[in-house]
Amino acid sequence: MSDEVPVIAIDGPSGVGKGTLCQWLAARLGWHLLDSGALYRLTALAAQRRGLPLEDEARVAAVAVALDAVFVADVAGTSRVLLDDVEVGDVLRGEATGNAASRVAALPAVRAALLQRQRNFRRPPGLIADGRDMGTVVFPQAGLKLFLNASAEERARRRYKQFIEKVIDANLAGLIEEIAERDARDAQRAVAPLQPAADAEMLDTTRLSVMEVCEWALALAVRRLAVRVIP
Ligand code: DC
Repeated sequence: MSDEVPVIAIDGPSGVGKGTLCQWLAARLGWHLLDSGALYRLTALAAQRRGLPLEDEARVAAVAVALDAVFVADVAGTSRVLLDDVEVGDVLRGEATGNAASRVAALPAVRAALLQRQRNFRRPPGLIADGRDMGTVVFPQAGLKLFLNASAEERARRRYKQFIEKVIDANLAGLIEEIAERDARDAQRAVAPLQPAADAEMLDTTRLSVMEVCEWALALAVRRLAVRVIP
């Protein structure tokens, strides 16, 4: 799709609140949403369901190329996800799938296989792109790039709260450890490591509420891209 379709690239580590911000912004602007993490999660899930070892780069990349995934937006702004025509429920969002996704995301052939699929989400009137390398690799020409961060402890605490609200058993110390491990893998991999683009606007959200983060992002979008906000 053409360069005139505006993109807001939003990157940052696991559990920093990008998902909530991106859904909110997409709803306020009436734009499309790319949840790139979901594509890595779906690739990992599909590979596991086919019994493939997650480090088998060629075969996992082949799964990524052929990924049969459909996102169905619902009224709440969230989306139902179908993998091989079957809805994947909470398993997609779970920590186990997140860790598996982080492993397949370290494989260059898998990243290459998902690149064009991600760019295809760029459709009028605009795209909010949520991920780790949106501003650096997938949409380097994005008109606005945001990079969120928060301490590992705070991100684990937010995850913990989400799990408890959903009545999913969770262990805070274990979550902190898992988040730190995932951060290290995402930041240290050879291809497209988690890092802010040189021209990204940075925000530490450790002590901020969800709405404070949303208002900060919206103000930047209005100022930089002259976007129209849905009342
Ligand atoms: O955002 P998430 O938790 O759904 O992402 C799951 C994993 O996928 C994350 O640990 C790293 C990887 N990922 C990535 O490497 N690049 C992206 N653009 C998005 C996610």
